[in-house]
Amino acid sequence: MRGGVFTLLSSALLLAQDAVAIAPDAVSVAGFKAPSWVLRRDGGSNYACKCYPGDYCWPNNGQWQKLNNTVGGNLRVNIPPGAPCYNTFKGPLGDVKTYNKAECDKVTSNWYNEQFQIELPAAGLWTYFTNDTCRPTTTPTDTCTLGYYPVLVIMAKTTAHIQAGINFARENNLRLIIRNTGHDFLGRSVGWGSLVINTHSFQDIKFSDQYRGACNYSGSAVTVGAGVQAFQVLKQANALKPPKIMVTGECATVGVAGGLVQGGGHGPLTNFHGFLADTALQFKVITADGILRTANSKTNADLFWALRGGGPAAFAVIVEATYKTFDDKPSAGLNLDIDTSHTTNATLFWEAVRIFHGYSTHFVDNGLYVYYELGTAGQNLHVHPFVGIGKTPEELQAVLKPMFDDFAKIGIKYTSSAANFNTFYDLYNAMFETEVAGNSALTGGWTIGRKDVEENHPAVISAFQTVLGAGSFMVGHMWSAGHGLPKNQWANSAVNPRFRNVVDKLITIVPIGGNAPLADKAAAQHRLTYVVDAALRNAAPNGCSYINEADPFQPNWQEAFWGDNYPQLLQIRKKWDPEGVFYSVSTPGTEKWEQIETGTRLCLKL
Ligand SMILES: Cc1cc2nc3c(=O)[nH]c(=O)nc-3n(C[C@H](O)[C@H](O)[C@H](O)COP(=O)(O)OP(=O)(O)OC[C@H]3O[C@@H](n4cnc5c(N)ncnc54)[C@H](O)[C@@H]3O)c2cc1C
Ligand SMILES: *[C@@H]1O[C@H](CO)[C@@H](O)[C@H](O)[C@H]1NC(C)=O
Ligand SMILES: *[C@@H]1O[C@H](CO)[C@@H](O)[C@H](O)[C@H]1NC(C)=O
Ligand SMILES: *[C@@H]1O[C@H](CO)[C@@H](O)[C@H](O)[C@H]1NC(C)=O
Ligand SMILES: *[C@@H]1O[C@H](CO)[C@@H](O)[C@H](O)[C@H]1NC(C)=O
Repeated sequence: MRGGVFTLLSSALLLAQDAVAIAPDAVSVAGFKAPSWVLRRDGGSNYACKCYPGDYCWPNNGQWQKLNNTVGGNLRVNIPPGAPCYNTFKGPLGDVKTYNKAECDKVTSNWYNEQFQIELPAAGLWTYFTNDTCRPTTTPTDTCTLGYYPVLVIMAKTTAHIQAGINFARENNLRLIIRNTGHDFLGRSVGWGSLVINTHSFQDIKFSDQYRGACNYSGSAVTVGAGVQAFQVLKQANALKPPKIMVTGECATVGVAGGLVQGGGHGPLTNFHGFLADTALQFKVITADGILRTANSKTNADLFWALRGGGPAAFAVIVEATYKTFDDKPSAGLNLDIDTSHTTNATLFWEAVRIFHGYSTHFVDNGLYVYYELGTAGQNLHVHPFVGIGKTPEELQAVLKPMFDDFAKIGIKYTSSAANFNTFYDLYNAMFETEVAGNSALTGGWTIGRKDVEENHPAVISAFQTVLGAGSFMVGHMWSAGHGLPKNQWANSAVNPRFRNVVDKLITIVPIGGNAPLADKAAAQHRLTYVVDAALRNAAPNGCSYINEADPFQPNWQEAFWGDNYPQLLQIRKKWDPEGVFYSVSTPGTEKWEQIETGTRLCLKL
């Protein structure tokens, strides 16, 4: 990694040290115009990288101090959450004495608690992409380092703070991360050597009975700040008369104005109203140039379209979002379990899975949303729950009857329980299970097309067997996006058009420690991409992939995530973020960017 090898960049200013300064001109050739780059060589290629601690272009203390003043003293040096359990945190800005028994006890007992992790400045709930170099411990003499947790955090309280953060990152060519709840499965809310803008303080929620904005919609709506989580807005919506509901994920702690909508956002209401992105009416955003803008169907319509499913942290930072709300309805639910307490016969078990899954088209055509897990406890199918929004218990039972009849024919035993509620909101709170944080895994996924179920179902089930056989497990979500609406009302958002014809959206999960040896990590990634997800891709050629719950390193990700929408998204990205201020993996226009040197420096390949 010496400067002398960079014959390619004859005009560059080369210094004989690891981090080399080069003239901006050299990189603007690649189409990106940041003021200062660091030249690196990795795996036989040349890279121009963003600025990191220790680099010539990392801002000095005075510059950080100035930023801190601009953001009202809300700039923090990030200490990893496990640090109070260690004597010393060995950070990139120097060593810090961190041991504190009370704080250590607190983080240890709350490690798996989602809301605890969400409220930390920069924690990632799925720890794989933090690199797990400072988990809570009982051995304080062990080493705690930052791993891929961010270096500094702006706890933004105002729009001006977000603007200042974006401007500072752009002017100094820093790795910038926008962090809302930290739910991200792909590691997009953390990043080695980065500056974070934390949006959790943006908590405004405002309902309107008759929304009037730049669109032809006339109906009820809600405007939420960037930090609002599903459970917060749903609770307030339920207290309205009559009770209202909106599209959210099945998980109540995910944010509703951050990564969810920018990736699409599917949930129990998706059959009826499409993705959360399809129900968006307007955004207030800050673009890469630091300017606050409105995006709706009239103003900045291209940005509005791209923000609705075009990929998180790719086009702008959302500070506020407005969504349609809907009248809530009485709803019925049913839980189903089949596990080794019912049968240890694998043939019989998979026969039951085949029957259950074969009815996916039937379920979604009858308006059901079905959340299930397969293989979380070895040989088990855990459907928690089947959801019938606007259905009586009898109507739900009638939809499920053919499946139960088929179970009876092959003599499969199961456990089930049904319940009905005055509103879907009550069902949501009662029947969806609490999820945990603090675990480490690689996440992949694919969707199963209607046609794949109708024409090639045995291959789909044998792909499921391959997934489980490869040490992965699966989470399924059956819905048919927007099919409750007439076809001409399926909203024109940026989500892959293929989603309109899928019936089951799967997440695959390969458990692997964030601190596992590098060879094991590489093997796990390879298994996810080329065994687990490859089996699903091959069995379901009519499916596609969901950017928020998938393997970003899958082949042809542009096509898999966005299909025919990709070329337009690429143009919009080039228009609104020409300097590469924002980055999240495998979003439109990131083809030239790589995290080199074992997932650390973010660089442009030259
Ligand atoms: C337990 C669990 C359950 C889930 N269930 C569902 C589900 O039912 N349906 C579904 O669709 N998805 C679901 N997801 C996936 C979810 O959509 C993503 O994790 C999503 O990225 C979370 O967004 P966030 O803003 O809450 O989280 P964060 O991790 O904070 O952010 C995620 C991404 O969005 C970016 N981002 C955040 N805020 C902003 C902003 N204001 N402006 C610009 N960029 C921003 C971040 O930079 C990052 O790239 C689930 C995830 C988990 C962990
Ligand atoms: C920013 O200012 C606040 C208030 O003065 C201070 O507590 C904090 O430590 C400063 N942050 C940094 C990174 O210096
Ligand atoms: C990340 O973890 C790997 C082991 O999995 C280790 O080799 C590497 O040094 C770590 N990097 C950082 C920056 O923590
Ligand atoms: C509103 O409706 C009119 C008439 O149907 C249509 O021409 C126009 O494009 C619509 N505007 C928007 C912003 O959807
Ligand atoms: C397992 O179930 C299959 C399918 O019902 C059946 O043919 C087979 O005999 C069973 N095996 C055992 C060992 O009971």
